[in-house]
Amino acid sequence: MIAIGCDHAGFELKQVIMTHLKDKGFEFEDFGCYSHESVHYPIYGKKVAEAVASGKYEKGILICGTGIGISIAANKVKGVRAALCGDCYSAEATRLHNDANILALGARVVGSGLAEMIVDTFLNTRFSGEQKHQTRIDMLDELDDNM
Ligand code: RB5
Repeated sequence: MIAIGCDHAGFELKQVIMTHLKDKGFEFEDFGCYSHESVHYPIYGKKVAEAVASGKYEKGILICGTGIGISIAANKVKGVRAALCGDCYSAEATRLHNDANILALGARVVGSGLAEMIVDTFLNTRFSGEQKHQTRIDMLDELDDNM
């Protein structure tokens, strides 16, 4: 199950991505926002990040204008590794190396076709499980504990 959220700048791309997820058979829940009306991205970054951190949702997708603000917000939540990706190489690498659990997209940066490919790559790539990468992820968790 995927948690998806956006701010007003990401609203349109989120609609595209939700249709794409449906077509590909992925289950998801939409955490808002639900219109073009101006909102604050930290609210939606936090909602999706907490949903993923709770363990109820396997992965999250967050979209704002650049993907930056909403990924910063999500990464404040313990256990979340949100990766802003503008290309498929990064989307694959962040799953293989970082075991990222949230994908952030910039609706004003990537077109919808590329965004769909990035989503597919992110959702279809498993963590490599390599010890060196696990060690580094454990170190990230320690940073969480020090916050
Ligand atoms: C909203 O105008 C914009 O600032 C927001 O979507 C995002 O790009 C922030 O990082």
